[in-house]
Order: sequence, then structure tokens, then C-alpha cells
Amino acid sequence: METAHTTYLIGIAGEEGFLGHVYYGPQLPDDNMQYLMRLDEPPLLPECNSRERASFYGSFPFEYPSAGGGDFREPCLAAETPAGGRSCELFYEGHGIFAGKKPLPGLPASFGEGCTTLEILCADPVLHLRVTLTYTVFEGSDVICRSARIENAGDAPLTLTEVLSASLSLDNRAFDIITLPGCWSHERQIDRRPLTFGKQGAYSARGISSHQFNPFLAIAEHSATQEHGLVYGMSFIYSGNFIAQAELDSCQKIRAVMGIHPDGFGWRLAPGEVFQTPEAALVCSGQGLGGMSRAYHDFFREHLIRGQGKHRYSLVNSWEAAYFDFDHDRLLRLGQKASEAGIELLVVDDGWFGHRDDETTSLGDWYVNERKLPGGLKRLADELLKMNVKLGIWVEPEMVSPDSGLYRAHPDYALQIPGRTPTLARNQYVLDLTRQEVRDCIFAQLSAVLHSAPIVYVKWDMNRALTDVFSMGLPPERQGETAHRYMLGVYELQERLLAEFPDLLLENCCSGGGRFDAGMLYYSPQIWTSDNAEAIDRLGIQEGTSLVYPLSAMGAHVAACPSHTNHRSTPFATRGQVSLPGAFGYELDLNKLSEEEFAMVPGQLAAYREFGPLFRSGDLYRLASFRENHSYDAMMVVAKDKALAVVHYLQVMSRAQQRSLRLTLAGLDETRRYRERETGVTRSGAGWMHGGVLLPVLDGDYQGKMVVLEAVD
Ligand code: GLA
Repeated sequence: METAHTTYLIGIAGEEGFLGHVYYGPQLPDDNMQYLMRLDEPPLLPECNSRERASFYGSFPFEYPSAGGGDFREPCLAAETPAGGRSCELFYEGHGIFAGKKPLPGLPASFGEGCTTLEILCADPVLHLRVTLTYTVFEGSDVICRSARIENAGDAPLTLTEVLSASLSLDNRAFDIITLPGCWSHERQIDRRPLTFGKQGAYSARGISSHQFNPFLAIAEHSATQEHGLVYGMSFIYSGNFIAQAELDSCQKIRAVMGIHPDGFGWRLAPGEVFQTPEAALVCSGQGLGGMSRAYHDFFREHLIRGQGKHRYSLVNSWEAAYFDFDHDRLLRLGQKASEAGIELLVVDDGWFGHRDDETTSLGDWYVNERKLPGGLKRLADELLKMNVKLGIWVEPEMVSPDSGLYRAHPDYALQIPGRTPTLARNQYVLDLTRQEVRDCIFAQLSAVLHSAPIVYVKWDMNRALTDVFSMGLPPERQGETAHRYMLGVYELQERLLAEFPDLLLENCCSGGGRFDAGMLYYSPQIWTSDNAEAIDRLGIQEGTSLVYPLSAMGAHVAACPSHTNHRSTPFATRGQVSLPGAFGYELDLNKLSEEEFAMVPGQLAAYREFGPLFRSGDLYRLASFRENHSYDAMMVVAKDKALAVVHYLQVMSRAQQRSLRLTLAGLDETRRYRERETGVTRSGAGWMHGGVLLPVLDGDYQGKMVVLEAVD
């Protein structure tokens, strides 16, 4: 398989047809790379020396490894028979190639023109499993998407105990592993460390992709930098439990795998049934981490995010402005101020439904609280529209409060293990979305609310991990399916929502950024990045997020000062600048801004109107990281046609030294001339890139500056 810059080679070995991974890396002109499988070295192929079959299993670079026969590394496939046998062996049967790509029923998946799909059929003749490995090559965006489909072609049921989406086999060469660990309000912090012996990586068994890790893994040459060196990326198009793991073995070989986490997983496959894994998107970049990021950004924007072209409203959100303490009049006052400034949308966050005045009640009761909002959302929306402000709402459809009409009527709708009190988190239980009747009940309520008023935006929140993962709707032998069926239930609900309200702008959220993943991006073009909207912490959160996900996906709001999450005070202008590249908004009471601050809002909105399209479609270059230099942060975005670029610089810590900073740029056309808008200085692209821009010492900590470069020829 070939993309614009990479080659991926698979080989078939021996008479039995072992499927081996041969090569993935920068494009190669050679056809025959079979020597990389080292089949003429001991341990030899089993038919030559069956005494060494186990050693062969232990070291062969299987393309889709299975468990039980002597390969002691992490498998992609493990199955259990009714008799308790746990071994699985796959052999090549055939393959086919077709233009385009089939959708994955019920799952988020890449799509689009300009791709070619290879399907390799393998079989386990003893278990009668037919395994289809699917590779879709997106030539232009340098991405290969992998997934697997497992069919039980026998007449006995099986249980799949592990079924991952992709595996990569690499020879070790001083690699680092990069993951994005974090926690609530500090999501996706970049962690880079030497890849060492054993298993390491990222995972979640929380039922959500989580704040703690992101479904992403990179393996980078130790010397790889932002723009140079070899980097492999694996991104999982899924939002639930996952494993993203690299394993260095004693033969100096790396097996990297990605898929649904096997912990607690068990999928019963009755005769004739099929299991389809989610997709993993693979990138190999010869242009360092920046090259990997740009490949993912382009790929997600063109081949995954269905709502990419939707209008991204500038908004003000009521959460940090008022928390639960609002009513019709207070929201109107916020809307009035939004209108004066030119903000397009008011989002009524948590607290508009049931009798919810705090976290303890009403999730599951999705009807308007008329005490707070007499006349309902319709009256509010109509009055806002008169001021030219649209209405959006917050919902948390996956949850139920013990104090709710829904829970009192249907206590069994919550995930719970018979005989055990389910674990509360944030005073709420998780609904059993594996069940159709639960999904229907929630959807009917949501649909009624959204039909009741002209609501153009929904923030879909999810505020706790899954515990007590047991469904009243599944038989004992299928309980291991619950967590994945839950995810399929969430996807189905969001799909129905978008089908019924195609113009709706959906923003996913999960206690901030607990489900910021490629799976969610299929449904919502933007995701709330973190509950920590403080500008300096946000630099690190947004930098880590941008390693994989495009700027356009990041909900980024100007929040109150001092920050409600970390109590740091930063200038209003700086908060605006840090939010500008994302899906822009305000998360504060506009009525409490000083006159001077409020006067800055129209300028920030004008900048969002002008540069939003560039940030949403351009190429990102990270120039300097405050995380690394403890002093300043800089990135730039260059338009695809290289006619416009914006440099985004932040002096985080003021410097005693009074000399200006020389920041060398990237991504421009060397031969064109660019004019800096503010000063009128005109230089060649080469001049800006290699000579750099001189940034003056700014007045104090947390000061930002943007440099706009426009091509003049
Ligand atoms: C979560 C979200 C916040 C806000 C609250 C409301 O924490 O991340 O943005 O919506 O819920 O309860």
C-alpha cells in the first residue's frame, strides 16, 4: 500500500500462509522487501523445522497476531470456545481491492473520495473464524485506516475475549513513546519517554476514552523534533475503553497495538454472527511531530468530521457566568449584553430542566423548569432572536439522577449489578444505553425539547465514568459486551439526533475533555477541550490536543478572572488570543466585565470572523512550547495556498533581558514575498522563515501578540 509519502508492506509466509508485517515507513521504490521477515534465519518457518514452531510464533511479526499458540506478546485476537479452549490461529485465504470505502455500521468511521481499500481474508480452520482485515489507504492525507471483522462461520458459539483493531511491527531504533496523559482540568499533557522493554502505553477501562489517557500513541525516533525525524502515530476512532500499547521484546522488536481494551470485554459470537472493530488511523511522518499532526488534522477535517463546514457560532455559555443560579430575566440580561457585543449564540448550560438547582437532581427529566424559565425555551429563544442572538442548550442524556421522575419510574434503567448498590458519582447513575427502550425514552425527550424552540446548538455532556457495568437487558454470557454496546448506544443516539436535526451544531463534552477523541468528532465538529479555560494552563492542554486533533475541534472560551479552576489572573486580551484558534466563545458573565474589557469583545469577534476560517483549514506549525522553555509559547497557522499566515505568540513570563526575541517561522513559500500587516515590513518567505520575526519584550507576564503575514505576490 502506498500513500503520498509512505509505504506499507504485508507478506505471506510459508505454505500455511502466515500473514506477516514487512514494512511501514517512508515510501520505498523496491517491490520485494520480504527479506525483512528474516525467514531464512532461525527460528525458521515451521514447515522447515517444526521443532521450532513455538520460537517462530514468539518472534514472527504477525500482521494480526492471535493468542494461545506460542506468541507471548499482546495479541489482537483471542477467543474462547464452549469447551474452554483459548487458542486461535489465522492463515491467509485471499484478498481483494476496491476503490472507496464501506461504512462501518453503528460506528464512527472515516469516509470520502480518493481512497482505496484492501481487504485480506484470513481464517482459523479449527474455530471456523473468518477474519477480514481492512486497510483503507487515503493517498493524499498519508493515512491508512485499519479495522477487523470477525465472523463465526462454524456451528458453535464462541466468545471473543480480545479483538483489537490494528497491530504494527517495528524493529527497535532508539524510539520514544508519546502519550497524552492527564486528569480533569489538565487533559492531554504531552508525555514523551524512551521506549523500553515490556508493555507501555495508554489505556482506559472507564467506559469513556477519559481524562487520564487519550486513545492515541506515537512512536518517534529519539532525535525526532517538531519538523524533522520519523514519527508513527496511531489514533483510535472510538470513545470508550481502549488500549494503545507498545511492547519492546527481547529480540529488539516492537509490537504496537490499538483497540478496545480487553479488560472486562467478552463478545459472544453465535454461529453466523459478525463482530466489527472500530478503526485505527495510522500515520507515518518523515517530518517530525508537526508532520504527523498536520496529517491527522487534514485527515480528520476531510475524512472524519462530518460537521466540519457547519457555522461555528461565537457564543457565551452560562455555566461559569451563573452556574445553576439563573432564570429567564438573568439569561436575557446575558443575551442583551451578548447582542450588544455581537456574540451570535447564548448557551444555557446545566440547570434549565426538571427541578435542577444543583447537582443532586433531575438528570433524565428533560423538560423545562417553568419556575426558572416561564414560557419555556421557546419564549427565551424568541426574545433572544429579537436581539439577534440564537439559543443553544446543554444536555447530559446518558445520565439519571436518583432524584428524578425517570429513576423513580424505571430504576432498572441505570447500569447496576443485581444485589449491589451502584456507585454514585457526581450524585448520578449511568443509564443503560445498551437497551433500545432506554435510548428511545431519552431520544423522545430530547427530540421534544429541540422541536419546542429554535435551538441551533447542543452541548452533549457526560460527567462520570462507567461503574457497575452490567445490563438488565443482556443474558449472563453477554455481560462482557455491555461497555461496547453502551458506546454503540451513545453513537446511535447522536446519529439519530443529527438525522432529525441536520443543521444542529453539536459540541461533545465530558466533564471538560474526558471524551476528546476521534470517535466523537464523527458526530460533533467541536468538543469542549477542558473545564480549565485559564489561558496559561490552556496553552499546554491545547498544545497536547493539537498533537492529534485540529484546532477547529477545540472548544475554547474566554473565562472569568481570576480563573474559577486555578485562580490565576491573566489579561482579558490574552484570554481572547489563546481562545481564538479554537471554537471561540465566552464562559463568564458579560455584565461583570469592566468597560475596558467589554470594549475588547467586538475586536475579538472580528478577529474570530477573519481568522477562524484560516485556523479551521490551515497548516499548524508549533514554533515554541512554554512547556519546554518555561518562558514563551508560539505557533503559526499557514493557509493551504500559503497566501496568509498568522503567528500566535505568548510571552508567558516576562524577561529581564531587553533584547527582542528572534522567532524563526515555518510553512511559508520561500519564494513569495509576505507583508506584515501591522508594520508593513515586507520580506521573502525565506527571510521570515530563516531570518525570523523580531518580537519585542512585552510589558509583563502573560502578554500575547499576533503577527499577520499576507503574501503580496
Ligand atoms: C461539566 C462540563 C461543564 C459544565 C458542567 C455542568 O463539568 O464540563 O462545562 O457543563 O458539567 O454541570
